Amino acid sequence: MRLATPSGFATEVFLLEAPDRELLPEGAWTLVGDRRLREAWTRAGMPEPEHALWVSVPEEEKKLRTVIPWLEHWAQIPLHRDATVVALGGGVLSDLTGLAAALFLRGIAWQVWPTTLLAMADAALGGKTAADLAAGKNLVGAFHAPRRLVACTDLLAGLPERHLQNGLWELVKTALILGEMAWAQEMLQDGPLKVAWVERALAFKAGVVHRDPREAGERRLLNLGHTLGHALEAASGYRLLHGEAVGLGLLASCLLAEEQGLKAYPPGLIEALVRRLAPLAPQIAPWADCLPLLARDKKAARASGSSIEIQCILPRPGEPAVQRALPPEAWESSHARLLALLHQESARV
Ligand SMILES: NC(=O)c1ccc[n+]([C@@H]2O[C@H](COP(=O)([O-])OP(=O)(O)OC[C@H]3O[C@@H](n4cnc5c(N)ncnc54)[C@H](O)[C@@H]3O)[C@@H](O)[C@H]2O)c1
Repeated sequence: MRLATPSGFATEVFLLEAPDRELLPEGAWTLVGDRRLREAWTRAGMPEPEHALWVSVPEEEKKLRTVIPWLEHWAQIPLHRDATVVALGGGVLSDLTGLAAALFLRGIAWQVWPTTLLAMADAALGGKTAADLAAGKNLVGAFHAPRRLVACTDLLAGLPERHLQNGLWELVKTALILGEMAWAQEMLQDGPLKVAWVERALAFKAGVVHRDPREAGERRLLNLGHTLGHALEAASGYRLLHGEAVGLGLLASCLLAEEQGLKAYPPGLIEALVRRLAPLAPQIAPWADCLPLLARDKKAARASGSSIEIQCILPRPGEPAVQRALPPEAWESSHARLLALLHQESARV
C-alpha cells in the first residue's frame, strides 16, 4: 500500500507485508544491508546487487569512520551520479547510509527499507541523516530525503522483543503529540502491534516534516520526550536504547506539563506509562548527571543574560502538544517524580 503523503513530498512511502522487488530502483543501484537481514531478504526473493555491502554496525560505530570505506567502495565500482543506494536495516544503518549518499559525489539518490519498528515508525522518514561525534550523538549529518521508503512488516519477524518495545515508544509519542490519550493507552496494553499504528505515525510525520523540513517550528513537536530522553540515554552510557529513553522522557514530559499548569492527565494513562516503564528504573541516572547533558542539548539556546533555555514539548490530553522555552532546571522535579513513581511500581510488583 502506498501511503498518501502531502503533494510534492520528497519521499514515496510504502507500507507492505512482504518485500516487493518492483519497488527497488529502476536504474543502477547498490545496497547497504544489515547482515542480520541477508537471509530474510534473499528468502523473500529479493535480488542482491553484485557490489552490495552487508554490514553490522552497532550504535557505538555510528561514526564517520564507518562510512569512509563504503564511499571508497562506491568510488571503486564505480557508482555513478545517477545510481541509487538502498539502505536495508535499522536506524543506525539508515542514518549512516543516508549520510554516505548525501556525501558521495555531493549527493546521490537513496531509498530506505527500514527493518526495526523504531526505524519504520520514525527514523527512516524525514530526511535527517547522521553520525555521532565524540562530543555527542547525531552531531554531524545532512538533510537528504530518501526517494522512497518501503517498510515491510514481515521483516520484523526476527526483531528481538526489546527492540519491538523500543519502537513502540515512538508510536506512543505520536499519540501524545496529537493529544490522543485513548490511542496511547491502547498501544500501552499488552497486545500485538497493529500495522495501522505505524501507518498513522508515518502519515503524521510526513505532514509535519513536509510543512517544516528544517525544524524551524512545528517539527520540534516530534522531539516530545527527547529532551530529558537524550540526557537519560547518554547518562546511562547508552545502556538505555533510544526508544526506551524516549519512553521515560514521555512520562517526565507529562509530569512537567502538569507542573507547568497544563491539563492533568487521565490517571489511567500515567498508570499505563508507569507500569510499562518500571523495569527501566534502575537505568535512570541521578539528576546531577542529567543536568549538564540537558544544558548541552542541541536545541538549547542562550536566553537573555547568561541563562540557558531549551524548547520543551509538553503534551496535553485532548489537544496537540505545545512548545515552551524552559531552563534545564525545570526538569528536576519531574525527574524526581519519575524516579519515585517507577521505584514505587517496581516495589509493588
Ligand atoms: N534520522 C532520524 O530522524 C532518527 C530518528 C530516530 C532515531 N534515529 C536513530 O536511530 C538509531 C536507532 O535505530 P534502531 O532502534 O533501529 O537501532 P539499530 O539500527 O541499532 O537496530 C537495532 C538492532 O536490531 C538489529 N536489527 C535490525 N533489523 C532487524 C531485524 N529485522 N531483525 C533482527 N534484527 C534486526 C540491528 O542489527 C541492531 O542490532 C539511533 O542511532 C537514533 O539516533 C534517527
